Amino acid sequence: MTTFEPARVRPGDRSLPARYYLSAAVFEEERRRLFGRQWLCLGRTLSTIPGEYFLAEVDGESLLVVRDDAGRLRAFYNVCRHRGTRLVQTPRGRLTGGIACPYHAWRYRLDGRLATAPHMEEVPDFHPGAYGLHPAAVSEWEGLAWLTLDPRPTPFETVYAPLIGRFAEWNLPALSAVHRIAYDVRANWKLVFENYNECYHCSPLHPRLVQLSPADSGRNDFLEGPFLGGYMTLRPGMHLTASGRACAGRTLGRVAGADLERAYYYTFFPNVLFSLHPHYAMVHTLWPVAADHTRIVCEWFFDPQAPESNPEDAVNFWDEVNRQDWQASEWTQQGMTSRVFSPGPYSQREGLSAAFDRYYLQAMGENG
Ligand code: FES
Ligand SMILES: [Fe+2]
Repeated sequence: MTTFEPARVRPGDRSLPARYYLSAAVFEEERRRLFGRQWLCLGRTLSTIPGEYFLAEVDGESLLVVRDDAGRLRAFYNVCRHRGTRLVQTPRGRLTGGIACPYHAWRYRLDGRLATAPHMEEVPDFHPGAYGLHPAAVSEWEGLAWLTLDPRPTPFETVYAPLIGRFAEWNLPALSAVHRIAYDVRANWKLVFENYNECYHCSPLHPRLVQLSPADSGRNDFLEGPFLGGYMTLRPGMHLTASGRACAGRTLGRVAGADLERAYYYTFFPNVLFSLHPHYAMVHTLWPVAADHTRIVCEWFFDPQAPESNPEDAVNFWDEVNRQDWQASEWTQQGMTSRVFSPGPYSQREGLSAAFDRYYLQAMGENG
């Protein structure tokens, strides 16, 4: 039985000093320790069609994520083993006949092995087996693709073990990503996490949201560590949509009982905001560009079989709430550049934001 409780701050909890949000040196250290090394969510995964692919930009690298002939998800650095040419330019599509380099026509199988390299048999001691594409580790979970640039990663299933099976009721792998919006936010990525992890700001910032879901209703089952969050209660008969009505004719998967009146919100360190609603799901992935610049991709997931589906009602609602949150994060980023700024105390409603900061410092090797 999962237990839920309000998150509490510890005496003296404050947000982080300004350098963590402003400094290019801290940002470089985050790339090295976090974004270049940890499991990151890439959003919706690929269909089962062999050759279907998308490109992902991860920590300054172009990665080709592709479904191979055996149905396995693969990821490769988008770099030819001949002279380094970027192999694929189009952001997504389907590769037929393997992965062909446009420059001198070396061709790779979907599992990354070099298949043909014109005239290279004339080169003494050329062994095609030594020139497969450089792989990156990928995984699939809950209909999402995950990737790490760590050449010797801890398996995804080990890192995500506390969550595996946790969201089975929503049957997420059966859903379709029906809408996607990319936002360019002039704020540090950690401000976005800290914002998502509290609803102290909900009454002043999101008047419509608090009409549908009380700002103080947050109860959590993940209170420390890389995964944080829990649920908030929906007011009776209310739904988180622009109209306040249900945006589909039936609920997801086997969602029942108390979950019919709850929205679940989690953050997965370091790049996912994960939201589950009775009729749809929403996933934000965060892509830090610079200390003061974050690209945020938001995808909405619906059951393609549900009758009377009206995704726009949920998309319009959250697009407005998203923009309010990004705006507040940008204002905070601006204020932090002031010479007089120092972090003030967290309120008793910002316990998860404080927990995020603690985990961040630990991941950066700075705890204690
Ligand atoms: S660089 Fe790719 S085949 Fe020459
Ligand atoms: Fe918000």
